[in-house]
Formats: sequence, structure tokens, C-alpha cells
Amino acid sequence: MSATLIKDVKKTFIKEFKTEPLLVFSPGRINIIGEHTDYNDGFVFPAAVDKGIAAAIQKSDSGNCTAIALDLDSTVEFELNKLKPSAEGSWENYVFGVVAEIQNRNKVVGDFNIIFKGDIPGGAGMSSSAALENSVVFGLNELFGLGLSKHEMILISQKAEHNYVGVNCGIMDQYASMFGIKNHALHLDCRSVESKPYKIEFQDHQLMLINTNVKHSLSDSAYNDRRSACERVSELLGVKALRDATETDLETIIDKVTPANYQKALYVIQENARTIKAAKALENGDLKKLGSLIYQSHEGLSNQYKVSCEELDFLVDQAKKNKHVLGARMMGGGFGGCTINLIAKSEAKSFSEMTSKAYKKKFDKDCSVYFIELSQGTHLVK
Ligand code: GLA
Repeated sequence: MSATLIKDVKKTFIKEFKTEPLLVFSPGRINIIGEHTDYNDGFVFPAAVDKGIAAAIQKSDSGNCTAIALDLDSTVEFELNKLKPSAEGSWENYVFGVVAEIQNRNKVVGDFNIIFKGDIPGGAGMSSSAALENSVVFGLNELFGLGLSKHEMILISQKAEHNYVGVNCGIMDQYASMFGIKNHALHLDCRSVESKPYKIEFQDHQLMLINTNVKHSLSDSAYNDRRSACERVSELLGVKALRDATETDLETIIDKVTPANYQKALYVIQENARTIKAAKALENGDLKKLGSLIYQSHEGLSNQYKVSCEELDFLVDQAKKNKHVLGARMMGGGFGGCTINLIAKSEAKSFSEMTSKAYKKKFDKDCSVYFIELSQGTHLVK
């Protein structure tokens, strides 16, 4: 967690509202493997990171609410009984959405002020959205004694994203951000919403992110389209979700789906199996196996699920050419953002320098490299 972020929001809050705020830190996440499996009731393998959102929040007695996004230097005033979504793409929808979803559960929130600031690069596929939603719901829960459990809070965050932001996301991001454990990744069953923590200590290896610094438009609608395609195939198969189907089941309806949707469903079934195997590989300390599953995941995301892009594919190809990278793949929703690389510690620096040069030459823009630490989930800062 960045102490500077906390200091900044606290200082600005006191200056702006003349009172001591509650301070919340809510992290972003990485995901080792298990992409686009969460909304298919499958398995994912995320971890909270040391980058996230710091929020300062306190009750307001001015008769309305104020939210300030410090990074954007943007302020919005609003009234609790007149909430509706703002224009698409507006940051305040995350705040409004969370409040509205709390109200939908017949919990009473009073007027409040909130200031937040983050260090998760936007569009990196590291879930700045979930971090923001969780910081708001966590802060409000504390402030107004709402008595919400962490599980209830993440469902509120997720619904806010569905109904106010317009992305029909799964539960992975909100879960990882809320329940993160220092130095651990969470093998999460998205049906039971229960996870098993795995200590991540790779000895000679480490995880490294490379951000393409691109976010291709249409990623939200493409995301929702993928989700509906999966639901249609599940319906045809007569199962609740693709998690319940096998490759053999899928073959029985091959004539009833388009080749494109067949490949998408096949990807999900295979990725879910890979995510289960990845946990086994970690248990056995078999990093080579884990790496190869990670590469296979990228192949599927790129060729079957079709959520990669030129820049991500290029970074993964660079990784494949280097024997010190055991695995690499795009991470998150796709169409830009980061790759996650499992790489020998001794080679991480030289690989990242070489790749950065090659990337610049190819696309005439810079990529960014992040060495991340796995961290605690959403919490109050004293
Ligand atoms: C986004 C969504 C998640 C998940 C991933 C893809 O991050 O918010 O719910 O579906 O994409 O794995």
C-alpha cells in the first residue's frame, strides 16, 4: 500500500471538509490463470497487489454528498435520493452504483463526502474499478454501521458495475481486491465464492507484469458479448454454467452453435481445467508445468476466445523466445492492458529491457514493467 496516497487523500480531505476522515485502502489484482471463467461459475487464481485506491470518507452535514477523484481533479456533488447513472464512462458511476446497490438492500446510508486517489494504471487490466467500488462500500459500511459481510460487500460492488457501469463482470476482481492475503494467491471457486490461499514464493522465479499501455475501444461491449455467448451455449447444453460441461458434452451440440461460439465455449471449458491443474502444479512446486499452462491460456484467449490484441500477442511472443520465461499471457478482460510473466529472477531485468526496446521499435510507443507484491485486501488504515 502506498503511504503517499493515504497521506494525500487525508490531507486534502481535512483541507476540504475540516474534519478527520476514515481511511480505506483497496488494492487492485493480478490473475495467475483462469481468465473469463469467473462468470461461467468456474475457477480463477487471482491475488491482490500493492497498488490500489486510497479513499478518505466521512459523514457530511451540508445536506448533500461530495465525491472527489483527486487523480482526475474532478468533483461531483449529489443527493442520495436522486441517484441515477451518469454518462457512460464517468468515474462517479462507480460511487453512485455502490450507494444505489446498498440502498437496494434496504440499508440506510446518510450523506457523506469521499476523496480518492489511486496508483493502478488505468486500462491495465488490474481492476482499478473493483478497487474503487470496494473502497466505497467498505468505507460506507464502517461509517454507517451497515453490518455488511465482506461477501455481501463484493456482491454490491459487482452489481454496481453491472447496473451503473454497464459491464456484466464476474466476481473475481471484487473478491481478490476484498479478500487478498499478503504473499498469497487465491484459488477461487466462483460458484461457491470460497477460495483456498496458496503461498506464492517461487524461489528463483517471480511474477512480472508488462503493460501494453493500450486499451482498445469496444472492450466493454465485447466483454458482455462473450458473456452472453457463454450463457447461450450453457442453455443449449442444459447446464447452469459452462463450468458444468465437458468437451464431450460440447461436441454433442456442435451443429447447433456457430464455429466461433463453439471455440469460445471450448476455451472456457479448457481454461477452467487448466486453472485446476495450475493449483496442482503449485502444490507440487512444478513451475514448468504452471508456466506451460499459462502459455496455453494465452493461446486460447487469443485464438479461441478472441480477446487479445496485436500488442499483447507481441509481448507473449517475445517471452516465448526467451527460455527464462516459463509462461506469459494476457491478463484480465483483454483488448489491451498487461501480460503476466513467470520469469527467472536473475533474468527479469534484462528481459524487460530487451522487450521494452523491441516493443518501442514495433509499435512506436512504450510499454511499462511492474514488479508487484501480493498484498492484503481492502482494509481500514489507522
Ligand atoms: C474482467 C472482469 C472479471 C473477469 C475478467 C476476465 O476483469 O471484471 O470479472 O471476467 O475480466 O477473466
